[in-house]
Amino acid sequence: MGILFKNGTVVTASDMIQADVLVEGEKIVTIGQNIPSRGHEVVNVRGKYLMPGGIDVHTHLDLPFGGTYSNDDFDVGHKAAAFGGTTMHIDFVIQPKGGSLHDGLKTWRKKAAPAQIDYGFHLAVTDLRDDVMEEIPSLLAEGVTSLKLFMAYKNVFQVDDKTLFRAMRVAAANGMIVMVHAENGDVEEQLRLQLLAEGKTDPVWHYSSRPPEIEGEATNRAVVMAGMTGCSLYVVHMTCVPAIEALRRGRALGYPVMGETCVQYFQMDKDKHLGAPGFQGAKYVCSPPIRTAADRTILWQAVKDGTLQVVSTDHCDFWYEGGKGPWEQWSKDHNGGDWVEFEAQDPSYRRPGKELGKGNFAKIPNGLPGIEDRLIVMWHLGVNGGKISPSRFVELNCTNPAKIFGCYPRKGAITVGADADIVVWDPKKSHTISAKTHHMRCDYNLYEGMKVKGVPVMVYQRGVKLVDGEDWLGKNGQGQFVARAPHAPVL
Ligand code: URP
Ligand code: ZN
Ligand code: ZN
Repeated sequence: MGILFKNGTVVTASDMIQADVLVEGEKIVTIGQNIPSRGHEVVNVRGKYLMPGGIDVHTHLDLPFGGTYSNDDFDVGHKAAAFGGTTMHIDFVIQPKGGSLHDGLKTWRKKAAPAQIDYGFHLAVTDLRDDVMEEIPSLLAEGVTSLKLFMAYKNVFQVDDKTLFRAMRVAAANGMIVMVHAENGDVEEQLRLQLLAEGKTDPVWHYSSRPPEIEGEATNRAVVMAGMTGCSLYVVHMTCVPAIEALRRGRALGYPVMGETCVQYFQMDKDKHLGAPGFQGAKYVCSPPIRTAADRTILWQAVKDGTLQVVSTDHCDFWYEGGKGPWEQWSKDHNGGDWVEFEAQDPSYRRPGKELGKGNFAKIPNGLPGIEDRLIVMWHLGVNGGKISPSRFVELNCTNPAKIFGCYPRKGAITVGADADIVVWDPKKSHTISAKTHHMRCDYNLYEGMKVKGVPVMVYQRGVKLVDGEDWLGKNGQGQFVARAPHAPVL
């Protein structure tokens, strides 16, 4: 006996078809007209769309960063993702300084123990010693096929050009993909120090320390190196005109280069949000910064014309009013320990958040909430806004992420043989986004008060229902690690 979705419209990256979908066990087994009910559990989805579960390939759950840790973890963050229609994400393992890539993997595997949705890992290389160069190919056996290098965050995660170039060479030789955070971290440091010396400390100055030029320059550098090495390159969180132009140039030259943007860059505005009164702008501090109307225009062009292939979130949320718990006490007692375990023992402890940067924008933890809101906001702005079709929506949020990161068609597709990760989407249902009702562990929402039309009403993960309206039906351990394959296509 299976689950039979009847009378719905299946939305794929290429088509919208009226069809029934039969799920048996974890898989989609039949798609067709008038499939007989024959003892199956029938789910009537008339008037609804059936879409593949969303895949968010850029998240940072429980990330040690900016003097604290991002809030959402592989438990709460997973629930929030699923309520928003996302059934898989790929998180960034950070190589510890002085340690190995496998040391990082070990830490992230532990973080992922309570998983509720499926997940994969990218490996962020921070210390490319010769032994680490040799270690890279062994990641394939672990189902990890993507490396990440940060061209910014000097003295934290930043690598130099030699490291990036060497990593690209070894990745190319092994069919892996390199992802970059493209901002020139050396120039950023100079701008930041100058601004602070001039007493420019409010959140809005974060923008001036990271102008579009440093993103464009770093993007171009990475694109050229990808062309030289033949390495597949994926530029994360692209935001602005010079960066998109650099990517376009590389693609026109036939280089194997791709890019993503994040949903917030379509909506947030430098002056309105970063420049909000008082310390409010801290809520919107992320890197690269949120930008201007001209940048939003080129981002829409780029998702329409195929320059950009994916929309993700870069989910990395921090409390706005955090710091309620004795962080110092935690550090003292648990130095090098695990914050999640510590919180589980005493939930009254609360991680420091954005307030760390009061009086100094450079100390505001960089990152934003979004894992729950990506699909509803993209549908609202993109599909309802007449900018993209439902099929392009599926392509950007589900199918291309799976193809580029080596797990298609098991993931990202409604097709026979695929995992039954299915979102039942009601295109007529409205919802007002609010921190009061969202499921992320965050005391604010970027889209507070935004009224959207089109929401997930049921979410299935490998044939198991996780979300039914407002009800959570998932459980810890339901989420599985997804091993990915190398030699993925360049789209
Ligand atoms: O501000 C951001 N983007 N925080 C998360 C880390 C990163 O750069 O992706
Ligand atoms: Zn980044
Ligand atoms: Zn990120």
